[in-house]
Amino acid sequence: MAKHIDRLIETAVQAQKRAYCPYSRYPVGAAVLTGGGRVFPGCNIENASYGLAMCAERAAIYHAVASGHDAIRAVAVVGAAAKPCGACRQVMYEFSDKDTAIYLVDLNPATGRRSICKTTVYKLLPLAFDPLASGLLPTNPRNLLRRKAARSPGRTKRK
Ligand code: THU
Repeated sequence: MAKHIDRLIETAVQAQKRAYCPYSRYPVGAAVLTGGGRVFPGCNIENASYGLAMCAERAAIYHAVASGHDAIRAVAVVGAAAKPCGACRQVMYEFSDKDTAIYLVDLNPATGRRSICKTTVYKLLPLAFDPLASGLLPTNPRNLLRRKAARSPGRTKRK
């Protein structure tokens, strides 16, 4: 696991260098480690229409989900005293379980020194909005999707 986490943090450090943040000048890198050991990077991406900015954490999570991996084992976030915003915490919650680890990596660009704080989504977002607790869904939304996918007919060869 330690090797996976090193790779996760290194991926987030590299992703921070690709941040598109000409407006805030606040680069953030993130990376997601999936249940299958894959790692997906993300960075913040801003826009002249400021409200369209996408955070690094959500970019990384959406990258993983769009690539077919919706079970998050760990997330790393890299920036100057970076902490996930509320929206990102709720999105992390959607794809996490109680063991999902969040690594907050405070990177000092001048010295290259890193300080790492390990936490969990449950600590970052206590009393999260939960689809099961709220009665919105009868089961974990990811199970629902998997079952639906299993039921739908497979692709047939074109004649
Ligand atoms: N940002 C992130 O990428 N992640 C966070 O958790 C907090 C904020 C970005 C959004 C915006 O591009 C910049 O940091 C300043 O808010």
